[in-house]
Amino acid sequence: MSVQKGYDLWSAQYDADPNPTRDLDRAIVSQLLGELNVETILEVGCGTGKNTGLLAEIGESVTAVDFSPGMLAQAKAKITAPNVTFQTADITQPWVTPARHFDLITFNLILEHIEDLDFVLGQASRALKAGGQLFICELHPFKQYLGTQARFTQDEQTTLIPAFTHHISDYLYAAHQHGLTLHELKEWWDEGDVGKPPRLISFLFGK
Ligand SMILES: C[S@@+](CC[C@H](N)C(=O)[O-])C[C@H]1O[C@@H](n2cnc3c(N)ncnc32)[C@H](O)[C@@H]1O
Repeated sequence: MSVQKGYDLWSAQYDADPNPTRDLDRAIVSQLLGELNVETILEVGCGTGKNTGLLAEIGESVTAVDFSPGMLAQAKAKITAPNVTFQTADITQPWVTPARHFDLITFNLILEHIEDLDFVLGQASRALKAGGQLFICELHPFKQYLGTQARFTQDEQTTLIPAFTHHISDYLYAAHQHGLTLHELKEWWDEGDVGKPPRLISFLFGK
């Protein structure tokens, strides 16, 4: 099954399904980005808009991009803030966003579905203003090594959404290749993860 089809099928229950990874990511975004105040934000892979409302509070304008009509429909039903524009786009194709336009670009729980990190970080760097920030929060590769990947269950059948493992060095190398400097790397556990490998990893890069 393709990534797009998988998320279309998952979309109607994505927000309601128990999902500690989604919930931890939401808490991280609030903790690390909640106090920012910027003009332009690009949210890459907005999904059902779980983080879009918060981004609309810290940015004057938010462009929220996804390629799943189902996920976007959920987001549009939920997020009515006038400073949010939704766009349908596949981020593995050349981005139509203007160059050097955004103060903040966010990727949350999307890059496991992207094989070519170098391409998307190149496009993101191009879209980022000088002095802008790029935030990534993704499934930790340690979890990926142990077999975790995005999945959902319907009618007692579990569907795995195609995923690629990105090592920590892959993120750092791809970012460096495109003129992005690491400001902060953090590893994250939720309360059920005590004694286990970290669930999520976040990076804040500057340009
Ligand atoms: C796990 S959801 C995360 C959504 C949201 N960022 C969040 O944290 O809840 C991953 C999202 O990435 C989107 N996605 C995956 N590959 C994509 C691509 N190539 N282009 C655009 N969106 C993509 C999916 O449609 C889905 O909405």
